[in-house]
Amino acid sequence: MSWRYLAVATEAVVRAGAIQRERYAGGVAVEFKGEIDLVTEVDRACELAILETLRGRYPEHDIVTEETDLGSTGSRFVWFVDPLDGTVNFAHSYPFFCASVALAVDGEIVAGAVFDPIRDELFTAERGAGAHLNGRPLRVSRAARLIESLLITGFPYDLHQRLEERLRFFNRLTGIARAVRRDGSAALDLCYVAAGRADGFWEEILKPWDMHAGRLIVEEAGGTATRLDGTPLALGADGVVATNGLIQEELVEALREQKPALV
Ligand code: IPD
Ligand code: CA
Ligand code: CA
Repeated sequence: MSWRYLAVATEAVVRAGAIQRERYAGGVAVEFKGEIDLVTEVDRACELAILETLRGRYPEHDIVTEETDLGSTGSRFVWFVDPLDGTVNFAHSYPFFCASVALAVDGEIVAGAVFDPIRDELFTAERGAGAHLNGRPLRVSRAARLIESLLITGFPYDLHQRLEERLRFFNRLTGIARAVRRDGSAALDLCYVAAGRADGFWEEILKPWDMHAGRLIVEEAGGTATRLDGTPLALGADGVVATNGLIQEELVEALREQKPALV
């Protein structure tokens, strides 16, 4: 059943990706949601295309989408939409961004699709049916320790206001792991863990639309995704740790040891 939902999620992200590819590097009007938190006309155009796709098929489902508050009817079916994940990258013509769409049924994520239009990479997963990249099965890496691991992270937009606090995990892991990267698209970062291109990812605070497609893709590729303290993720905004599974405990532990400074 969820393959039908996955097909719709896929159609939605591919439509958004076509808009992103067309408008990329062409110069785009930027508005500010915060000092470094941007929204562009392309975020809005992608959101419109995705909403049109989802509402055309499932008008009775709820949708939680980044740029518009659509309210809730209490439906069992809730779509999570990030029309353009990596807006700052997009606005700077840095080629690392995507569209991300996930569906929860009765509180459980069952389908997710993430599309990178620059590399033409479509990451998909359906609960219980595996994760795929352009139709080929995905598998997480085999790194068993942080010292053998390439990790990715990201920062919330209050970074300037709380610099020291926000950097404490980064500083700690930079001194433990083989490498730490910050690429600017949480949804794609998670897909890179699923594809074995990175061994783990963490971010202190993510919105539901940033993470739910990517975290299902990680889980279905054989990895693990939890809250920062290692407990199960729910559907709301939260911290995330997602890895190949083998380094999950060591990463959660390293974050926990750093916890006292946390808010
Ligand atoms: C952001 C990106 C970034 C992450 C931020 C997100 P946006 O999403 O995923 O990598 O560090 O926390 O808000 O604003 O580009 O959709
Ligand atoms: Ca996002
Ligand atoms: Ca976004």
